[in-house]
Amino acid sequence: MTEATKALSAPDIYARKGGTPLVVLTAYTTPMAQIVDEYCDIVLVGDSLGNVVHGLPNTLGVTMDMMILHAKAVMRGVKKAFVVVDMPFGSYESGPIEAYQNAVRLIKETGASAVKLESGQAVAETIRFLVDRGIPVMGHVGLRPQAVNSDGGFKAKGRTQSERDIAIDEAIKTDEAGAFAIVIEGVAEDLAADITRAVKAPTIGIGASKSCDGQVLVLDDMLGLMDWSPKFVRRYADLRGIVSEAVKSYAHDVRARRFPSEKETYQVKVK
Ligand code: KIV
Repeated sequence: MTEATKALSAPDIYARKGGTPLVVLTAYTTPMAQIVDEYCDIVLVGDSLGNVVHGLPNTLGVTMDMMILHAKAVMRGVKKAFVVVDMPFGSYESGPIEAYQNAVRLIKETGASAVKLESGQAVAETIRFLVDRGIPVMGHVGLRPQAVNSDGGFKAKGRTQSERDIAIDEAIKTDEAGAFAIVIEGVAEDLAADITRAVKAPTIGIGASKSCDGQVLVLDDMLGLMDWSPKFVRRYADLRGIVSEAVKSYAHDVRARRFPSEKETYQVKVK
């Protein structure tokens, strides 16, 4: 299995259905994007930046300007990966024209290749409108964080037949509207498998089992930077612990006058 990946286009990603799993991570800053770019097929500038970077309780407060700022930073770090930018809450739901104007802004101002939107049943027409006008769209079904208020919290989907039917219907509508890939979030494995079978586009799971065509995680969760992460996250590092130890050592050194040392100090060279 190759670790390094080659640059993919939206049609290449679409063609990966059922093939080698697509590797996707979020990124929000240039240094992290540089690292993620080396190993990932797709970098997602997720509106999860509201929670993990800005300390918001959910993604509803994320604005177009925040998405553009972070997407520009990510684009400065990415050489190869396909970059997708989330459309924030309120930027696409009122209809195709508003969605098109905001999607164009995201792509023009950042240089990213595609947008993602949470594709509830109402937005299929919008996806088709964007795709027909040259904007690749990634869908997002199942647990949709931007629906936190109408759903009454962040709850995994598919516990009732009606929730299952809705999730499958959202995915099929998203697929038929021309999405090149579909994120499935927070659903049990059998539902993820049913959705993956029902659509032509590759599915990318987050808390949706290995029965998807790829996987995505929020970078700060998988690096162990957050004080809490959902059950489905595997922590590949404990950066919170490492950063905390480093800051503690620095504080001790400064208080004990052990930092800076002579080596870390400029000396005047008299000419
Ligand atoms: O905003 C985000 O990071 C996302 C992923 C969780 C898929 O939408």
